[in-house]
Amino acid sequence: MNLKERFLNMTRKPKGFLGTLMLNRMNGRHAKLADWSMGIYQGNPAEILDIGCGGGRNLSALLHRYPDARGTGVDYAPLSVRMTKAKNRGAVFAGRCRVVEGNAMSLPLPDDAFDLVTAIETVYFWTTIEQGFREVYRVLRPGGTFMIVNELDGRNGTGDEYVKIIKRMRTYTGEDLEAALKYAGFPRVRVIHHNNMLWMCVMAGKI
Ligand SMILES: C[S@@+](CC[C@H](N)C(=O)[O-])C[C@H]1O[C@@H](n2cnc3c(N)ncnc32)[C@H](O)[C@@H]1O
Repeated sequence: MNLKERFLNMTRKPKGFLGTLMLNRMNGRHAKLADWSMGIYQGNPAEILDIGCGGGRNLSALLHRYPDARGTGVDYAPLSVRMTKAKNRGAVFAGRCRVVEGNAMSLPLPDDAFDLVTAIETVYFWTTIEQGFREVYRVLRPGGTFMIVNELDGRNGTGDEYVKIIKRMRTYTGEDLEAALKYAGFPRVRVIHHNNMLWMCVMAGKI
């Protein structure tokens, strides 16, 4: 694997020097995508969970947008946990934010605990999305919202160049995600495509 390929593989589970570079890059590169999706969500959450929190920028933006909310970040990469804590150190110190190491396949979090769960640029790497979505359903409060945000909408082979390089990465269309969400128990699903970009936001509600 050449250096460029090794660097791109750091999106899946960042570690070491290249992982630190990648997390800093993603904090910048995903900001507009994440902010676009946050503008679509209309609720006023008290408890927010960001799964695959990476470099922590999106959790920080959510805490800024909802100043009365408390935020939790979860990621299976210890480096992402450390960087999210560092990025949100003020909120962590104030008791508004906690960051835990854990896998989306088996979230180390209680049932019915969150009003809003976000998964930004991460479901491509989950072993089984149906299992991950069942876990999100479990931790969401009744009436809560799950938001999946992808910069690649999986249509017409978008993202194939990354899938070839990044191990065990998969892209999904809105239809794929909707079917998996319904299978996992979500009764209401909305797929929103950006007007000019390949960006996609999928919102699912728990009864
Ligand atoms: C491409 S990065 C995106 C980070 C951040 N959400 C953003 O938008 O910048 C993917 C993140 O998801 C995490 N991740 C991937 N699969 C995961 C899983 N099954 N459980 C928890 N975290 C996961 C990776 O460790 C990485 O930090």
